[in-house]
Amino acid sequence: MEIKNLHIQYQYFNSKSDLSDDDQILLHSAFDAKKGSHSPYSKFKVGAAVLLENGQIIKGSNQENASYPIGLCAERTALAAVVALFPQDKILTIAITASTVLSVVDQPVAPCGICRQTILESEFKQHQNIRLILSGESGAVFIFNTVKDLLPLFFDSEHL
Ligand code: THU
Repeated sequence: MEIKNLHIQYQYFNSKSDLSDDDQILLHSAFDAKKGSHSPYSKFKVGAAVLLENGQIIKGSNQENASYPIGLCAERTALAAVVALFPQDKILTIAITASTVLSVVDQPVAPCGICRQTILESEFKQHQNIRLILSGESGAVFIFNTVKDLLPLFFDSEHL
């Protein structure tokens, strides 16, 4: 038996004002996307903004349902809009943020497991990595160059 270590890499920024101008614009769009959140059950509003190679920014927000399990996360709402509106365009970056009435979200918000797997499939489909910008309302911001760093030992079509 031997112990193996996994190495994941991300960029750490003390605050969103340290991001590049382009990344700040995209993150601002994610904040704006939260306005479309339908989250009467969790009261947790999530916004996602997807930057396409054509320069378009597509926004999505979480859409909950009285039948809880069928709710949709912000990331997958945005990704569904992308394939509906711009099926040929590659995704460069996704910015994600969240807020809640219960407290200030001062930690970066990371996508859930289902969203990570969905973003992974988008990477494979377009043969190109997708950058992720993760932010709370305040505090540090993390940037990942690929969702694979958030999903070590991922499951993909190679296993089928
Ligand atoms: N949520 C997202 O929209 N994205 C995630 O990656 C994490 C969770 C939503 C789902 C639900 O509407 C609320 O946040 C609380 O879990």
